[in-house]
Amino acid sequence: PVNLKNRSLLSLVHHTPAEINYLVELAADLKQAKRLGNEPKRLVGKNIALIFEKTSTRTRSAFEVAAYDQGAHTTYFEPSTSQIGHKESIKDTARVLGGMYDAIEYRGFSQKTVEELAAYSGVPVFNGLTDEWHPTQMLCDLLTMKEHSGKPWSEIAFTYLGDARFNTGNSLLLVGAKMGMDVRIASPAALRPSDELIALCKSIAETTGAKITITEDPVEAVKGTDFIHTDIWVSMGEPKEVWDERIAMLLPYQVNAELMAASGNPKVAFMHCLPAFHNTETKIGKEIAAMSPQFANGIEVTEEVFESPASIVFEQAANRLHTIKAALVASLG
Ligand code: CP
Ligand code: NVA
Repeated sequence: PVNLKNRSLLSLVHHTPAEINYLVELAADLKQAKRLGNEPKRLVGKNIALIFEKTSTRTRSAFEVAAYDQGAHTTYFEPSTSQIGHKESIKDTARVLGGMYDAIEYRGFSQKTVEELAAYSGVPVFNGLTDEWHPTQMLCDLLTMKEHSGKPWSEIAFTYLGDARFNTGNSLLLVGAKMGMDVRIASPAALRPSDELIALCKSIAETTGAKITITEDPVEAVKGTDFIHTDIWVSMGEPKEVWDERIAMLLPYQVNAELMAASGNPKVAFMHCLPAFHNTETKIGKEIAAMSPQFANGIEVTEEVFESPASIVFEQAANRLHTIKAALVASLG
């Protein structure tokens, strides 16, 4: 039997496939209960601290709405309005917040920080994204792939294209291996996950039956796949100067109509953790299009694919709520 009481969610490296499956199923149950209007409130009286060193729309709103739906309260901290990091160490912050809150969410740069919060606070800590991992996004992506395909884990194939050595790429490789899926990662060699992570996932695959493909060939990677995932090409915290080089490297991995068709699967679906640069409506989108005119119709994904019926990105975004709620309920409920 699965028991996640008081457990932190730092990376999913130490969660078993049964525990991950439990969280996804709990999320589906909570989603259904909310739809039916009979959601049981299991977090009444709990207080949750939300620390964001980097900006967020989905993760913050999902934690807040999940907490409110379940009867809990939240406090939002951003670095400029607290002492965190600049005036007070993480170790001290952890012990202060652990004395008042029942749980802490942290989004920021270093995985070490979220691990330190967990080590010193004495309460469960949830990683809302670090440079290395994005575990709450993974629960969402798994639920979305499960719901959309209706298939068991072992029959789902998915492909991630783009910068694969950051949070989203690393995490998709890990959960694909854990859940025994057919996981394909396509990126330039310089942007692939670390050798250590690939070795870890290959060893996990030996016990779960996962099929792992790491390739530089985007067309090979999408053949017969059920889902094509991508992420922004330059992540939060990376300097602007990397754009030129990154764009040149990643151009063959852009998710466009041709690549969707190369899957040979008429039902292939497009996924993206968001935010996405699929047109030039945003400030950064405009800057990039000015630098490289070929990106006027989208950067990592074209506007055509993003707005097509194959795109399930907003279903996926809505699932952030239910999956983060499941993580909170399983640990604190
Ligand atoms: N996908 C995701 O984490 O979105 P936010 O950055 O808006 O939280
Ligand atoms: N890789 C992206 C994910 C955003 C949700 C970033 O770190 O900015």
